[in-house]
Amino acid sequence: MSKTTSLFILFLLSHSLSTSILTASSSDILYDINPFIRVYKNGTIQRFIGTDIVPPSIDAKTGVQSKDIIINPQLNITARLYVPKDANPSFKIPLLVYFHGDGFFTESASSPSHHNHLNSVLAEANVVAVSVNYRLAPEYPLPIGYQDSWLALKWVFSCDEPWIKNYVAFGRVYVGGDSVGANIAHNMAVRVGLDETGGVLLNGLFLNCLHFWGKMPIGNEDSDSNIQVKNMMESIWIHAYPNLTGLDDPLLNPGLDPNLSRLGSKKVLVYVAGNDILNGRGWYYKEALSNSKWSGVVKIVQAQGEEHDFGVRFPNTPNAIELVKNFASFLNEGQV
Ligand SMILES: *[C@@H]1O[C@H](CO)[C@@H](O)[C@H](O)[C@H]1NC(C)=O
Ligand SMILES: *[C@@H]1O[C@H](CO)[C@@H](O)[C@H](O)[C@H]1NC(C)=O
Ligand SMILES: *[C@@H]1O[C@H](CO)[C@@H](O)[C@H](O)[C@H]1NC(C)=O
Ligand SMILES: *[C@@H]1O[C@H](CO)[C@@H](O)[C@H](O)[C@H]1NC(C)=O
Repeated sequence: MSKTTSLFILFLLSHSLSTSILTASSSDILYDINPFIRVYKNGTIQRFIGTDIVPPSIDAKTGVQSKDIIINPQLNITARLYVPKDANPSFKIPLLVYFHGDGFFTESASSPSHHNHLNSVLAEANVVAVSVNYRLAPEYPLPIGYQDSWLALKWVFSCDEPWIKNYVAFGRVYVGGDSVGANIAHNMAVRVGLDETGGVLLNGLFLNCLHFWGKMPIGNEDSDSNIQVKNMMESIWIHAYPNLTGLDDPLLNPGLDPNLSRLGSKKVLVYVAGNDILNGRGWYYKEALSNSKWSGVVKIVQAQGEEHDFGVRFPNTPNAIELVKNFASFLNEGQV
């Protein structure tokens, strides 16, 4: 078994063993996606991770202030908004629209890991952030998550929310996310490039441990030792997006997207982890974008020896601290 796989399986086990032993007989179970969810034949959905929440706050350590807002009450699209300690209406600052990860099934803008991550980013970066609660699968199967995210992104450009109106420099809007949140962020940037109404403009795109896949394996994705992780990846997509056209759908395999060169962002920062099975997808993305007719600048940073989504999951490690610094300087690059 490769080191990558054994670490990943360890992650799955440590996430699931303690919670998933239930008194249900296997004949009651429709499907299981370890470590995220179990769905029963009677319709009950059980989430094993990502259900903890923390309230918005004035963070004692960083002075970053947050509050929860409603973007669309009918659809229940909400967000957590952040402003840095010294926000001042006479000095407009960039905006980050952020999409959290965790398999499309779990977590939210209020989960402790994402709340802490955004507090840390805003302690370093002088930006306003909107961390979006798109609706989750399987109750709301994709493309609902993409549609919600698009509505949220369009909303920020037209809303009356005072923190956004008073502080944001609309010429400097960024989108970003981790894991499947990076998948969403990328797909939002493609949509911006294709959007003929022209209401949304992006300066940059930050993709942390991006979650892409495809029929053709990259590196050792289909080695015998990776079979369990590969099956999990594919199971995520089958159940999160039952109507997906297949593993080479452009939403999932941007290298095969004829519209990739239309990506509506001037610059992209891709962050990959050395021990993440998705690592190869990050390098492939960078290459596909560089080889396309897209005219922006793409950079990639690899954190050696790290696992999937280390920057959010293990925030106190030196590599995670460096990720936050790099993310922050990407957001404030060129600011006078
Ligand atoms: C559905 O089935 C599971 C497992 O048998 C059980 O724990 C749960 O209570 C059931 N839910 C409903 C609404 O019947
Ligand atoms: C609205 O979404 C939140 C998560 O963002 C969820 O906790 C809540 O239950 C949802 N409300 C309804 C009425 O579906
Ligand atoms: C899949 O597509 C069909 C046909 O457009 C639609 O009726 C169905 O609701 C879709 N299923 C999901 C889960 O979105
Ligand atoms: C590419 O963009 C065009 C609109 O400009 C759209 O009609 C088409 O469906 C897109 N192709 C894919 C594969 O998404």
